[in-house]
Amino acid sequence: IFVKAEGRDMVNAKAPEHSLGPDYRPEKPMATVSTKVPHDNVHILPQTPQLIALLTMIRDRNTARADFIFYSNRIIRLLVEEGLNHLPVVEQTITTPVGRSYAGVKFQGKICGVSIMRAGEAMEQGLRDCCRSVKIGKILIQRNDDTCKPKLFYDKLPEDIAERWVLLLDPMFATGGSATMAVDVLKSRGVPEDRILFLNLIASPEGASNFAQRFPKLRVVTAFVDQGLDEKNYIVPGLGDFGDRFYTL
Ligand code: PRP
Ligand code: URA
Repeated sequence: IFVKAEGRDMVNAKAPEHSLGPDYRPEKPMATVSTKVPHDNVHILPQTPQLIALLTMIRDRNTARADFIFYSNRIIRLLVEEGLNHLPVVEQTITTPVGRSYAGVKFQGKICGVSIMRAGEAMEQGLRDCCRSVKIGKILIQRNDDTCKPKLFYDKLPEDIAERWVLLLDPMFATGGSATMAVDVLKSRGVPEDRILFLNLIASPEGASNFAQRFPKLRVVTAFVDQGLDEKNYIVPGLGDFGDRFYTL
């Protein structure tokens, strides 16, 4: 299959997986797409041209903060919509304005969001945009800059959290230490593992694999699994420090 990439005609042996674009365009751009992971409980968003373009924007070191926020929010919306697809529904038949019935479904069960502060708070608005007046709990966990080990400082969760589905929010999933600590807090409050959905933008393959094995009933919804971690346990190619880019840079 011939595709045009970086201005050159080249043979793309992996074209169906690694080229992007609509079927009516014979020449398609090349792009790196998510690494696959062999765990059924890790769900990677479809690697569409839109998603890859949004990720390209937020990964770019030259992207200004306003654009970083705007494009991150678009990805967060996709993650929330996909996460909600994992919640149970029941049949519901309604009548339309023209008097016909429609066999549909409605959401069942109660949900709440829990953000891992600080960066996870950036995902709260995306959840609120889809679920009006959703309850949101907070867990403040900070990764030590030198050891990369997480430390738990604070949590404040809805009192009835054990009866709810929990959408756990954190954009970056590096070693998985912070997410693991947050899940341990949720489990200690009675939330069953299979009612936790962890939504995140970029995961490392090692973080995702360790976590998926440790919590086999918990579901992860991620936009992208990257190549790995560097010597400082930053995700590569990654996007740098999400919290800094969203809040302070
Ligand atoms: C970042 C990120 C995750 C964590 C990921 O937060 O938002 O919580 O690191 O790393 P891990 O998977 O190796 O634990 P950080 O502690 O830097 O705080 P911040 O949210 O204030 O940026
Ligand atoms: N936290 C971030 O914000 N980025 C990384 O790559 C790792 C941890």
